[in-house]
Amino acid sequence: MSPAPEPERPEAPAGIDASVASPARMYDYYLGGTQNFASDRRAAQEIYTLIPDLPEIARDNRAFLRRAVRTLAAAGIRQFVDIGSGLPTQGSVHEIAQEADPASRVVYVDNDPLVPAHARALLAGGTEGTTAYVAGDLREPDAIFDHPDVRALIDLDRPVSLLLVAVLHFITDEEDPWALVGRYRSRLAPGSHLAIAHATRDGRPPEAVRKMTDVYRRASAPFTFRTREQILAFFHGSRLLDPGLVHSPRWRPEPGGPLSPSAAWNYAGVGVIPAER
Ligand SMILES: C[S@@+](CC[C@H](N)C(=O)[O-])C[C@H]1O[C@@H](n2cnc3c(N)ncnc32)[C@H](O)[C@@H]1O
Repeated sequence: MSPAPEPERPEAPAGIDASVASPARMYDYYLGGTQNFASDRRAAQEIYTLIPDLPEIARDNRAFLRRAVRTLAAAGIRQFVDIGSGLPTQGSVHEIAQEADPASRVVYVDNDPLVPAHARALLAGGTEGTTAYVAGDLREPDAIFDHPDVRALIDLDRPVSLLLVAVLHFITDEEDPWALVGRYRSRLAPGSHLAIAHATRDGRPPEAVRKMTDVYRRASAPFTFRTREQILAFFHGSRLLDPGLVHSPRWRPEPGGPLSPSAAWNYAGVGVIPAER
């Protein structure tokens, strides 16, 4: 007899289709969060059959994000736009940036309909005037940068850190993510930074790549693995900080930090936009 289907959580807010897995909720599940539904957990479990260390890959990715924000804050950057921010989790960008300087401005952007309610709860405690959440789509750079809540916090005439961490692989080649990133870059002041992490299929078992691609095709957004060369092309027009574009756990690892075997699924790098373009 097959097991009874896992019940959907009754608290799925109105307007959320809990029956179709979503990248934001699946990622929450990989990270051990609770903002996910049975469809997300089933989709994740299907991937785990071929990529059992996916939770570790997600944690590595998250750790890269934190190290990048710490590095950028130490370099004096006080404005952060985090697109594809995901459901709030510990060690969020504003916590790290505002540890360096409580006046640092942070805007989160995501297109998942579950994110707003959780983000509002996260931002309730004393972050007004420095931190905001905007519902927006990465594919609409001008709508994001011209959004009144973004304009209220972010001065595009001054350096900004644009964080595109584990989100560009949700943009298909047909949607031309390189042109999209170029549009963002063209609106950023010199001295701005671009932090990118992106899934790669380089050297990965083709069967595992196929499984993950197939599961996300049935979810609310497809997933596109890219080669290192394709990911490097996102940094066109910027200068990569050391150590360049590397597997994410190798990007400025913390002293003594273990290099996990999952290292090879994700490339990460941070570029700075020079004065002369
Ligand atoms: C894998 S999570 C990454 C979260 C976070 N950036 C991190 O690295 O820990 C990807 C997030 O990107 C969001 N996303 C996917 N496509 C998007 C789009 N076109 N516009 C905005 N957000 C998007 C998803 O909803 C999800 O929350």
